Amino acid sequence: MADLLGQLEALAAAARTACAAAGDEKALEELRVRFLGKKGELSAVLRGMGALSAEERPRVGEVANRVRDEVEALLGARKAALGEAALEAELAGQPIDVTLAGRRPLPRGHRHPLTRAAEEIAGIFARLGYEVASGPEIELDWYNFEALNIPADHPARDMQDTFYVDPSTLREGRAKGGVLLRTHTSPVQIRAMQRIGEPPIRIICPGRVYRSDYDQTHSPMFHQVEGLCVDTKITFADLKGTLAAFARAYFGPGTKTRFRPSYFPFVEPGAEVDVSCSICGGSGRKDGRRCGTCKETGWLEVLGAGMVHPKVLRNGGIDPTRHTGFAFGMGVERLAMLKYGIDDLRLFFDNDLRFLEQF
Ligand code: DAH
Repeated sequence: MADLLGQLEALAAAARTACAAAGDEKALEELRVRFLGKKGELSAVLRGMGALSAEERPRVGEVANRVRDEVEALLGARKAALGEAALEAELAGQPIDVTLAGRRPLPRGHRHPLTRAAEEIAGIFARLGYEVASGPEIELDWYNFEALNIPADHPARDMQDTFYVDPSTLREGRAKGGVLLRTHTSPVQIRAMQRIGEPPIRIICPGRVYRSDYDQTHSPMFHQVEGLCVDTKITFADLKGTLAAFARAYFGPGTKTRFRPSYFPFVEPGAEVDVSCSICGGSGRKDGRRCGTCKETGWLEVLGAGMVHPKVLRNGGIDPTRHTGFAFGMGVERLAMLKYGIDDLRLFFDNDLRFLEQF
């Protein structure tokens, strides 16, 4: 028995030295086979156990198990140490650049024509002293309709059907009624009045709006620019002068403007505003033929406007006995289509480079 125990101790000692000296995984595998393999040294020692007595056998077996566990642990620890050292060496060495230079330099892109149109419109008003404002696209019913003098049963709601959000998901919505995707940028009028408080208020708001519409001239998501001016003694003449200046800046210096009476619940009086056709110059004829853009009328309808309704001013926290104001709203897609002679609004959203690269 003493003989076998001596062999096991010798085996463990040899494994300790050999493992410490092993330089790579392959060497470690060879050591595993040498010590622990079927035909390895441990198996050879165990074969000698057959000659032992029944009392001796478990004692030798116990030592053999301990030696096997130790050799396994030695192999594992050495393997981990080798892996760590290899990683350290890799990190400390030359970095590997896995990128490859582009074969063809990509041309620099440009802003989408709608972004450009909206920025151009807002820029014209910025030069007239307007500040750019914004509001949420997921809006409360109160701001989108109620505060703009469009109560729940008002027929004007039919023209602006939209996408409703479950109000129970929003704390503010539950308290104030419906939550929806805003159908126009007009709710920003109320938010701006509430935020700014004391007039003068001059804001311009470009933004996305939503309606359940889809055809050649309507998309479920489109863009508007809203304008609001509130101060003392603001009159309809100020509105006319402002929009005429805008039309000349956007469509060209010779552009004429005309106002037709119209109804919007949030203004009184209200108007629809036309500009002389930017394609035929207002003559109705182009190259000896009928102008398709203005349908030979010489005029293009471009926006809605009016004097802010006293109720709307009050909902924004403004005293209508002390202040008056005007507001207007226009569609960005429509303005871009008229300026560039585009006949299908859906082209803006197809993202076909052959279309986009023309701007
Ligand atoms: N919000 C209206 C719409 O989407 C457009 C509009 C009309 C805005 C008259 C105004 C306005 O500010 O005064 O149809």
